Amino acid sequence: MDLVRLLAPRDPALDHLAREVCASRPDLRAAFGDADSLGFRQWLGVYGVLEYPRIAAHYPPLPPEHLRATVCGGATLASHLQTGAEDFRVLAELFEIYGGRPFDSVRSVLDFGCGCGRELRWMQSALPAASMYGADVRKAATDWCGQNLRGTFLANGILPPLDLPDDSIDFAYALSVWSHLSEEQGRVWMRELARVVRPDGLILVSTHGAFALALCARSAEHQQVLQIDAATARELLRELPNRHFVHRVLPATIRDSADGVAADYGQAFFDEIHARSAFADSTEFLGCVPCGLNLFQDFHALRPRRR
Ligand SMILES: C[S@@+](CC[C@H](N)C(=O)[O-])C[C@H]1O[C@@H](n2cnc3c(N)ncnc32)[C@H](O)[C@@H]1O
Repeated sequence: MDLVRLLAPRDPALDHLAREVCASRPDLRAAFGDADSLGFRQWLGVYGVLEYPRIAAHYPPLPPEHLRATVCGGATLASHLQTGAEDFRVLAELFEIYGGRPFDSVRSVLDFGCGCGRELRWMQSALPAASMYGADVRKAATDWCGQNLRGTFLANGILPPLDLPDDSIDFAYALSVWSHLSEEQGRVWMRELARVVRPDGLILVSTHGAFALALCARSAEHQQVLQIDAATARELLRELPNRHFVHRVLPATIRDSADGVAADYGQAFFDEIHARSAFADSTEFLGCVPCGLNLFQDFHALRPRRR
């Protein structure tokens, strides 16, 4: 996979600008080498966008703070862009591993629970010929995406369906969405993704697992992020090997700030045994990558079962 080519829009004017900026910045040359290095291409889409309006003009607009606040990636624009780039790279790499074909052969992408497009902004330039779809219960987020990103954006209900035909998507992913859904909602939404993804396509979902709980048990910062105290985290960590899925509903004040989500929206933690069995009616389990997302959430790779 040619990540250097995938990480920036293919645009001769941007290439020219990138060389000019690199030539004028010894600090960047010392950090990354030349303008065609992987590090520099990523810098362009993160700090290049923030520091140079001329570079930003080649990338999609930046989402407002109130939309960034309810997705992953942290509070700042830099962390939103940087984590989006890192997560995009992991998605592309896992697609090749579990999808079994080159990432740039993908012709249609669905970001389920897309928020304000933290990954889609990278996907849309990496795959310029592919159809992009994003879906989210939060209409304010899909409205913003529809006005600022390339693709079709669907404000879905709390329960399926998605307004997409059967077998219409090559690659569907959901970052930090199954980490919040109740057991039953996770099951019905997986059936829906299996319906819209082609039988030779790929589904990747991230979720909290044992490692996230262990971190939460000892880190005040993670307790704050997950809204789970240390004693509860330890209790859930002990329960997980027997129950394989545990879930705590979030306080109403937090649920209300993520407007549109289900009344039982919370923090879900599950393991590979759950991913293998709970979704077995609609998917074939391909693999699990513990801590594969930002050294915090686990990835599960699944393929729709033939109907
Ligand atoms: C933690 S955020 C992650 C957002 C985005 N995937 C990212 O990585 O930045 C969870 C997202 O899932 C969305 N969501 C929650 N329940 C959903 C559902 N039933 N259908 C679609 N989206 C949902 C939320 O509105 C929110 O945008």
